Amino acid sequence: MHTKFLGLYNSVQNLLLKKEKSALQEVCNLLENEVEHYHWVGFYFMNNAKQVLEIGPYAGEKTEHNEIAFGTGICGQVAKSGKTFVVPDVSLEENYLSCSVQTKAEIVEPIYKNEMLIGQLDIDSHHANPFTKDDEEFLKAICALVAKYI
Ligand code: SME
Repeated sequence: MHTKFLGLYNSVQNLLLKKEKSALQEVCNLLENEVEHYHWVGFYFMNNAKQVLEIGPYAGEKTEHNEIAFGTGICGQVAKSGKTFVVPDVSLEENYLSCSVQTKAEIVEPIYKNEMLIGQLDIDSHHANPFTKDDEEFLKAICALVAKYI
């Protein structure tokens, strides 16, 4: 993991270790506050029976996408692929659900627990093409911590 993210990784770990109910909300707030190019940070969880993603805690503008069908939007596509999806420019995506007109880019990282896809961490940015391999590595590590917590 890039050293610039180490402090934040440790803070997230400490938050989750406290095992408080509000931990996931606090993780969202922390990431949104501390990383300059993260402007909406939130969790979605799989409901396989209904074939939808259900929104979890998030930080940032209120969204109407509380429930997203598998296959729909960037998040819905990740629910099917189980793979990280980096979108450098959302205006070029056809299968995309807009949350805010300010959003220019998005990254969605899947969350696996015991090799099962259980949810995802979704991050929007107001900056164009802001996400690098460093973000990917960092967010993968965060999702692994979250999987242990839940
Ligand atoms: N943009 C996402 C929808 C979720 S909002 O960004 C909060 C998508 O296309 O799936």
